[in-house]
This record gives sequence, C-alpha cells and structure tokens, in this order.
Amino acid sequence: MEIICGRDYEHVSFKAANAIVRQITLKPDSVLGLATGSTPIRTYEYLVEMYQDGGLNFANVSTINLDEYRGLCAENKHSYHYYMEDKLFSHINIDRKRTHIPDGAELDAAKACADYDEIIRACGGIDLQILGLGHNGHIGFNEPGEVFTKGTHCVKLAQSTIDANARFFANIEEVPKEAYTMGIQSIMQAKKIIVLVSGEDKKDIVKRAFFGAITPEVPASVLQLHQDVILIGDEAALSECYIEKD
Ligand code: F6R
Repeated sequence: MEIICGRDYEHVSFKAANAIVRQITLKPDSVLGLATGSTPIRTYEYLVEMYQDGGLNFANVSTINLDEYRGLCAENKHSYHYYMEDKLFSHINIDRKRTHIPDGAELDAAKACADYDEIIRACGGIDLQILGLGHNGHIGFNEPGEVFTKGTHCVKLAQSTIDANARFFANIEEVPKEAYTMGIQSIMQAKKIIVLVSGEDKKDIVKRAFFGAITPEVPASVLQLHQDVILIGDEAALSECYIEKD
C-alpha cells in the first residue's frame, strides 16, 4: 500500500483528481468506480474544472458507483443518482449510457443486485476504484461484520451510518434504512484502488483500517490485502499513522 499525505482537504482532492486524470489519459475507455459522500466532492469539482479547461475527455469513460439507497428514485434529491448528476455527470461529456448506479427504485433486492453484478461483469471490471471511508470502517455500504466474499447486496444500514448521513436530510427519520451496495469482492477485484480520507474525525478509523487487524469488523481492513491501493489523506486524517518521510 502506498500512502500519500496531502496538507489538507484541498490538497488531497487535487492529488485524487490528478490520479483520475492520469488513469483516463493512459486509458481513455477506463472503467471508474465512484463514491459519493462528502469526501470526493472537491475531487469531482477539480475534474469538472479540468474538463472545462479542455484537458479531459470522458466520452469513452464508463462509471460504476458503489451504492444507492433502496427506495429512492433517481429524481430524489437525496439519491446518489442525483448526487452524481449534480456533482459530476451534468458538467462533463460522459455518455449517460456508460454511467451505472444501483437502481434504488427497484424494490426487488435480489433483482436489483443481480442486475448490478451483471453490469459490472459486462463492463469488464473496474480499472480504478475511488473509495471514501466510513467512521465505522465501511467501504461502499459494506457495514461491519459482513463476510468479504459478497457481490452486490442489500444492506441494513448501521445506526452510526444513518446518524452520519442524517446531515444530508431534513431529519434523521428521512434517512433510508437500507441500501444496495457493491460487495467487498467486487471492490477487491478492481485493478487499482484509491481511498480518500480527510479530517481529524477519520484518524482513528484510518489507523484501525490500514494498520490494524484484517477483520470483517473493520471492512476497509481487507484493503490491506489488495495489490494496488493508494491511501490519500490529509495530515489530520493520517495523524495517527506512521508514515516514512523522504
Ligand atoms: C459513498 C460510500 C460511503 C462513503 C463513506 C464516507 O458512496 O460508499 O462508503 O464513502 O460513508 O463518507 P464521507 O465521505 O461523507 O465521510
């Protein structure tokens, strides 16, 4: 695992965007695995800026998002479909037929998940997966305690995740209790993974996930077994980690 320490959120986002630009430049038909949440927002803004400056072409890029709330349709402002349109897709020249997010409006969980696994397979797997990190160690919505071998599945969100995500909703009752998420197995099959972390509130889970025991109780700890992971964090998030300085 490589660890890159940025000064702050801005610097982390800039480095993450550059890694994505490099991926698209080297392979214009890359399949990108994308995350939502607060952390990648500035990274997406950088990508939009680079696209608008003429340095990036998304025409042949495909995207596969990690997750979506079960029961929210694409038009719902709290859905991850909406987030991706708002933060990235509506600002770049990506072909919507190449963008993929689990179908939250499909209430038949078995069908929604099987369809999504088929989409991932048809895309030929993920070249570069971007991940955020939950305070409880979740990646995607793979909550603590789940086996590492799952494909896309429906999860009951942990109370800590519902609490953390309540900030995006008018009140906590509105936060959906279930979500469809890409499984750890699919995440681990990505050729390259970049994990973005920022802020002091992530420092303890970063330490547990990347320097602690590999256990389903900390889902992100499985990433220690991946052959090509880059952790990009700011000084606050990495403050509990030992990093060799050159
Ligand atoms: C989002 C996702 C989640 C978030 C995680 C961190 O698609 O899958 O795992 O990456 O909850 O969220 P933030 O970035 O808001 O701290």
